[in-house]
Amino acid sequence: MSSERREDFLELVRQRDIVVCAGSGGVGKTTTSAVLGLQAAVEGQRVLVMTIDPARRLANSLGAESLDNEPTQLDLEGFSEVGVRPDGELWAMMLDMKASFDDLVEQRAPDEETRQKILNNRLYEYFSTSLAGTQEYAAAERLYEAHSSGDWDLIVLDTPPTTHALDFLEAPSRLANAVESKAFQWIYEKELFQGESGLGLFSMGSSYVLKTLGKFTGTELLQELSVFLQHFSPMFQGFRDRARQVRDLLTGPECTFVVVTSPDPHTREESTHFYDELGSERVAVGGFIVNRVHPRWVDQSEFDRPVEDIAAAIADLDVDVELDDSERTQLAERLRSNAASFYVLARKDARSVEQLRAELSRDIPVATVPFFSQDIHSLTGLDRVRREIFG
Ligand SMILES: Nc1ncnc2c1ncn2[C@@H]1O[C@H](COP(=O)(O)OP(=O)(O)OP(=O)(O)O)[C@@H](O)[C@H]1O
Ligand SMILES: [Mg+2]
Repeated sequence: MSSERREDFLELVRQRDIVVCAGSGGVGKTTTSAVLGLQAAVEGQRVLVMTIDPARRLANSLGAESLDNEPTQLDLEGFSEVGVRPDGELWAMMLDMKASFDDLVEQRAPDEETRQKILNNRLYEYFSTSLAGTQEYAAAERLYEAHSSGDWDLIVLDTPPTTHALDFLEAPSRLANAVESKAFQWIYEKELFQGESGLGLFSMGSSYVLKTLGKFTGTELLQELSVFLQHFSPMFQGFRDRARQVRDLLTGPECTFVVVTSPDPHTREESTHFYDELGSERVAVGGFIVNRVHPRWVDQSEFDRPVEDIAAAIADLDVDVELDDSERTQLAERLRSNAASFYVLARKDARSVEQLRAELSRDIPVATVPFFSQDIHSLTGLDRVRREIFG
């Protein structure tokens, strides 16, 4: 990658308060989040990486076996073995949506009685884990809190896999809409103002809420839901306000998105769709990272060579393995065919990256990270990715 592009990525972690890593499933969002956080820590920043599901081995190698909903400082000593001495601090937390939602109730409930009524309500469990948008809302809330605390120079947010860039951005208002929806309000008002209305309930039998809550009898459900909403409703306005604040934060100058993708054409198309969606919401996209690009380490001339030449080169190798002529020829053929396949893959990937560059606005930096032969589960691995992106 050219040097000014590397500068672009450096500027990103230096200047922004929040970097959101987004993209399709399995492309490397969590790995990238760790790497961006590491770079900022190397530069002396105090960084928080809010992650979703770090691979256990990656968490282990960072000394963070037991990440939870509170920030934990990572031990960066190990990086000295790979020649890196971070001047800053790297903290990480694993977003636990249920715990975040409980915290929210703890904070927002006006008094202890209301708090207990909500947390002990039998519908709360369902509400806090299954209702669409609750989880993302809790994550957004947590991000907002971390940003407002002023404790961090940079917050890197890892996101769950999604094909819609705005799921996360829209979560707070979706949740507010859900709890203010007609179905909820209907039950709420009926029960509050007209007393028992068990019959009416069955006419709503097809509604999403009621279907999911089928384990309760009609009257039980109404009572439970009514009590729940009565205590929960006053918090709705808070949701709405927060939804607006989170949106302002995510679309403001403090925040930028880094879209992670792979050279696979289908994934690349998802990523550009994502980019368009972010653009139409006026969310800044600070860069693209194309991960798992097959590097071009063989030249056509190498597999155009006669098999005998390759077999002869194998014979010259100073290794402890005895091969007879036919084994050497077989191995040479396999090597040649592997090299040819690799060459084709590398060319396809290079073309895909070009295509991506052509589709994006010129000022969006695109970094590529090679497809390593092993998963990135060690400090060495993280540092190699870091050097690819930042030089
Ligand atoms: N360039 C690479 N070369 C080899 N392995 C990689 C590379 N990038 C990531 N990996 C490995 O691929 C796996 C998936 O990466 P990661 O967990 O970062 O993806 P993700 O986008 O967060 O996935 P999910 O959508 O499931 O959250 C991990 O085991 C990681 O170590
Ligand atoms: Mg992930």
